[in-house]
Amino acid sequence: MAEGKTAIITGITGQDGSYLAELLLAKGYNVFGLVRRTSQPTQGRNLINHLMENECFHLVNGDLTDQSSIDNAVKEIQPDEFYNLGAQSFVPESWRSPTMTADVTGLGALRCLEAIKLVKPDCKFYQAGSSEQFGDVREIPQTELTPFYPRSPYGCAKVFAYDITRNYRESYGLFACTGILFNHESPRRGLEFVTRKVTMTVARIAEGLDEFLSIGNVKAKRDWGFAGDYVEMQWRMLQQDEPEDFVIATGETNSVQDMIGLAFKRVGMTLTWTGEGVDTIASDQDGITRVKTNPKFFRPAEVDLLIGDCSLAAEKLGWTPTTSFEQLVNIMVDSDVKVVKEALSNGQLPPVPPA
Ligand code: NAP
Ligand code: GDD
Repeated sequence: MAEGKTAIITGITGQDGSYLAELLLAKGYNVFGLVRRTSQPTQGRNLINHLMENECFHLVNGDLTDQSSIDNAVKEIQPDEFYNLGAQSFVPESWRSPTMTADVTGLGALRCLEAIKLVKPDCKFYQAGSSEQFGDVREIPQTELTPFYPRSPYGCAKVFAYDITRNYRESYGLFACTGILFNHESPRRGLEFVTRKVTMTVARIAEGLDEFLSIGNVKAKRDWGFAGDYVEMQWRMLQQDEPEDFVIATGETNSVQDMIGLAFKRVGMTLTWTGEGVDTIASDQDGITRVKTNPKFFRPAEVDLLIGDCSLAAEKLGWTPTTSFEQLVNIMVDSDVKVVKEALSNGQLPPVPPA
């Protein structure tokens, strides 16, 4: 164990959990990641394999749907800080599994707060909030004061988690706060999310493995940033003197179509778009169809536009995004081209985004 602080991170095996663990370890923390039991423990832990030899890094079994496991973790570890990043975080899945999503993503936050309240009330708590809470946005851009209007069971669960975090702060005096984070991406992003699905498919097309990208609503607009920047803000929120909720965003919005265009440009293809809605397609400079719309990727209710106003975080947390949208897309495409090439040269099958 290091001399420094001790933190629990739920969602350690995910994109943000892995970046946050690296950040805290570099700052001298003892990091305990909560992991769900799986029948094959080595599967699904690719993002943290490189940390397993670090003597300050530990895994503890637990599940956000199980109060006892969270209570036990807090009792045993006695953390100074608790980062609740665990969630069923894929929006379309939340329509297929709404009660599970509410349980993990909504009630999971309450279970963490209960454990802290009863066992270690001086532990600081970070809740991973989401711009999905704004949903059908009530104002543009969205701030900490913008009313919520979630459009999915996932968004509803995140609103509950946000409200209960504020309520425990006000009812019990806990240092508990929510970061309302807008979309943040990286080469570690899950393959089901749109940016990574696009960059992996573009890499596969560039290597001749696929012919086209099958996609949903390309008109949706998001405020996309780099995940590595965003976990630093999660940490900074818990270093404040008083708990406070913050929007973390870049303040720039782009459409899925813009994102796809930049990704293809990175591998030397210029797209021309035609059609509307489910009839939208895009062809490259040689007239080959490279993007086709598939209705199955459209959602029952869409969040059309997100753009955050991060003035409060700029003022109080010193927040300035370091990675531009085009840089982010290029980083992700380059990484996936490398992944695909390496797999092919090792005689392995390159990753395929879920159909
Ligand atoms: P992610 O890659 O999908 O990771 C989700 C994590 O939650 C995984 O480690 C997963 O573990 C864990 N988890 C799922 N169900 C669990 C359960 N029942 N008990 C314990 N852990 C469970 O998500 P992310 O992109 O890193 O996002 C981190 C957090 O920020 C999430 O809460 C997400 O909703 C929120 N958020 C993300 C963004 C974004 O753009 N990335 C924006 C706003 C908010 P397994 O490996 O076992 O599945
Ligand atoms: N996933 C996906 N797949 N999305 C598509 C596709 C497709 O084939 N085609 C179009 N989209 C559109 C979606 O309809 C949505 O408007 C947008 O791309 C972004 O989708 P995702 O990348 O799946 O992310 P999200 O915005 O729904 O949710 C992510 O960001 C939230 C923060 O706003 C997740 O990380 C959430 O966990 C997070 O809270």
